[in-house]
Amino acid sequence: MTNFKKIYIGSDHAGFELKQDIKTYLETMSLDIEDVGIFSPKTTDYPDIAKIVAKKIQRGHGVVGILICGTGIGMSMAANRFKGVRGAGCTSEIMAEFSRKHNDANILCLGSRILNQVLAKQIIKRFLETEFEAEDRHKRRIKKMDR
Ligand code: RB5
Repeated sequence: MTNFKKIYIGSDHAGFELKQDIKTYLETMSLDIEDVGIFSPKTTDYPDIAKIVAKKIQRGHGVVGILICGTGIGMSMAANRFKGVRGAGCTSEIMAEFSRKHNDANILCLGSRILNQVLAKQIIKRFLETEFEAEDRHKRRIKKMDR
């Protein structure tokens, strides 16, 4: 299903329930998952969790993250403060596909108040199975974001 070696997953309180469901879904596919929290639905600031996953992505190779909050917006804003992180807030499979193909997205950001569990899993599947199209124009544009 995916060439990623490891998947880091995290959420705030709004995304907690969906994270638990997604984690179970990914574990049944024998993927290497690391849950960075939260571990109970207690109120948590999404930038704290985004930071943990973003730093894992900065240090790792062939790894990917999934961040879940209420809308996916706060998580993507926070994650994208970290150099080399390309967090994509996706609400459809086509967004997930092109975030990988053209933008080489390395964190998928989802909104638990926007998506139902079925669609969230479809988006994750498409994201994980889609490879970056490593064409010069895409590489050039991505490089410009890190300058
Ligand atoms: C928490 O209520 C909510 O603001 C947060 O999960 C997220 O949607 C922010 O972008």
